[in-house]
Amino acid sequence: MDHPKKHVENLRKTVSHHQYRYYVLDDPEISDAEFDSLFRRLQSLEEQYPDLIDENSPTVRVGGGIAARFEKVRHQVPVLSLANAFGEEDLHRWRDRLLRLLPEEEHARLSYVVEPKFDGLTVVLQFENGRFSLGATRGDGEVGENITPNLRTVHQLPLQIPVSQNGSHPEEQPPRRLVVRGEVYVEEEDFQQFNQAQVEKGERTYANPRNFAAGSLRLLDSGISAERPLKLWTYHIVAQDEVEDTAISHWDALNRLRSWGFPVCEESRRFKDNEWEELIKFVSSWHELRARLPYDLDGMVVKVDLLAQQDQLGFTGKDPRWAVAFKTGGEEATTKLLDIGVKVGRTGAITPNATLAPVPIGGVTVQAATLHNADYIEELDIRIGDVVLVKRAGDVIPKVLRPLKELRDGSELPYRMPTHCPSCSELLVRPPEEVATYCVNNACPDQLVRKVEHFVSKSAMDIVGLGTKQAELFVDDGYVHTLADIYKLPWDRIEETEGYGEKRVENLRRAVEESKTQGPTRLLTALGIRFVGSVVAELVMEYFDSLNSLMDADLETLSDIEGVGPKIAEAIASYFALGPNRALVQAFADQGVELAMPNLDREEDAATLLFAGKTFVITGTLPTMSRAEAKTHIESMGGKVTGSVSSRTDFLLAGEKAGSKLTKAQQLGVQVLSEQELLQGDAVLE
Ligand code: IVH
Repeated sequence: MDHPKKHVENLRKTVSHHQYRYYVLDDPEISDAEFDSLFRRLQSLEEQYPDLIDENSPTVRVGGGIAARFEKVRHQVPVLSLANAFGEEDLHRWRDRLLRLLPEEEHARLSYVVEPKFDGLTVVLQFENGRFSLGATRGDGEVGENITPNLRTVHQLPLQIPVSQNGSHPEEQPPRRLVVRGEVYVEEEDFQQFNQAQVEKGERTYANPRNFAAGSLRLLDSGISAERPLKLWTYHIVAQDEVEDTAISHWDALNRLRSWGFPVCEESRRFKDNEWEELIKFVSSWHELRARLPYDLDGMVVKVDLLAQQDQLGFTGKDPRWAVAFKTGGEEATTKLLDIGVKVGRTGAITPNATLAPVPIGGVTVQAATLHNADYIEELDIRIGDVVLVKRAGDVIPKVLRPLKELRDGSELPYRMPTHCPSCSELLVRPPEEVATYCVNNACPDQLVRKVEHFVSKSAMDIVGLGTKQAELFVDDGYVHTLADIYKLPWDRIEETEGYGEKRVENLRRAVEESKTQGPTRLLTALGIRFVGSVVAELVMEYFDSLNSLMDADLETLSDIEGVGPKIAEAIASYFALGPNRALVQAFADQGVELAMPNLDREEDAATLLFAGKTFVITGTLPTMSRAEAKTHIESMGGKVTGSVSSRTDFLLAGEKAGSKLTKAQQLGVQVLSEQELLQGDAVLE
């Protein structure tokens, strides 16, 4: 055979491409077996022809050499930190300062990007001519440690950018020199699994995913790092050399990173300054986001979007003025665990709770905390009577972090979960592969009370006057069997009930009546579908004209919604696949609860806005507009822009170097437009 240089190079590109599909996009194109055979073929050719070995070959992901110590590296650009905002007030003050510092004429252009604050270890990644050349820890911000071999084992890190060679990815060439900042992290489940295995082997465990990530990245043997489930998010272009090609906004920079094959989180959102209230709402709901993501966050980061404005704002000390970390001051304290009880949640999940000796944490007296599930108690060996470490982060439920075993005196008692539901006495079940125990009795009174509590809560139907006490009463008295019964309450009988005067009943009746017009977005939130809180409900209902049409949407349509991942789409689809849930929605309709989105604007839009109801996808480099500008243009004319081409795409706006999206659009017969055609507008709707 000829010297197989070309063959090895092609094989590397193919293997890198499939690693990217698998690890970054979570969307593999070939089977694991097929991938393994390509990978092994590359490995064996590299063994056979050692002169072809390349330190950035995808085979380095398995790690190798052992270092004696880590070299120090001086960062070319100091690695800055972030100032914190604890609560909304601090955020308002941060914005006030921006408005003070930026000249008046800049105010209209002010916009923000909000993204998760990943709880991992900062890394600084350097690329020369697209090749990953150096990776370092943050260190003291000036000097870090060279951990390149360990970072090469992280599968999401592109070793050669652009990653993909078959036209499906690169839409822009990378600069000659590029420095990117990111966070290496470990998912909660991988962390638990690792610790469990360590316990079984009698070896050391880590306190939390963050320590685990940090420890694993700083192992001198990169072969061991390679076995750790390390993952990466990137979120910042620190430096790049092609000045004329610099993105004008942070949002563009994130898109550019994506187009080169970097892992960039899809949960980020952009807000104009006049959408400040929505920004606050989004940021304040970060616990919702945290709960549905498989990895931990320690807040959200709010950044000024335009890079020119970032430059104008500059720094104070180590913190940029243009960015701020929003947290809800988490604090910890120790106290005595007095007792353990269980609570039935609205999904039927049985959660053990700790009753604590009252202890002040972050200005609030804490007397109860969650213990998650039976495994958590068992793994941490938490016993009644233990002194425990408790953490409270903002308005989330405080949690018991661990017992202080060294303080035991022998009187502590191990805990056993009940076998029957404390509310309805049914036998509890634990589905295989799940850590939670459930009461599966649909008529369980406690479950129903929790559902009602959620239904009437502020971000859902907001029915003032219907609290836990009333919910318990209505369920106990048999007035409420399903959520729709809230709209059929026998007011006369309730008025006769002790303590319910005419006035109170009248107020409550009116609040219930008025809630019928809250609209489908709140109703969707109120249904309590897994992962669907108020923010997700809003994203979803932007795409449907009523709850009925959402109910009939298929999985593909749901997955196409920007900001809705496969997990959420699946949760919504499977909720509405069930007969009783569909019947519940019908029962609301029968009671006069509004299911349709207000159609005033829509009708007007349809008449006046050219692209109303049309879905666009943008690809390639446009002659004059940035993609962000094109998106804004389309949206201003009533259209929607989504990320991937499907049978529901109306138009593909394609520029130069359009890749696989163009091919797919052509296959599906989706109309392809140029920028000029888009701007002409009318041509589009022929
Ligand atoms: S931006 C100049 N964005 O949080 C750029 N940082 O508490 C400043 N972090 O050291 C950083 N997620 O390691 C930024 N989406 C994100 C982040 C993020 C996590 C880390 C970062 C920083 C620390 C500050």
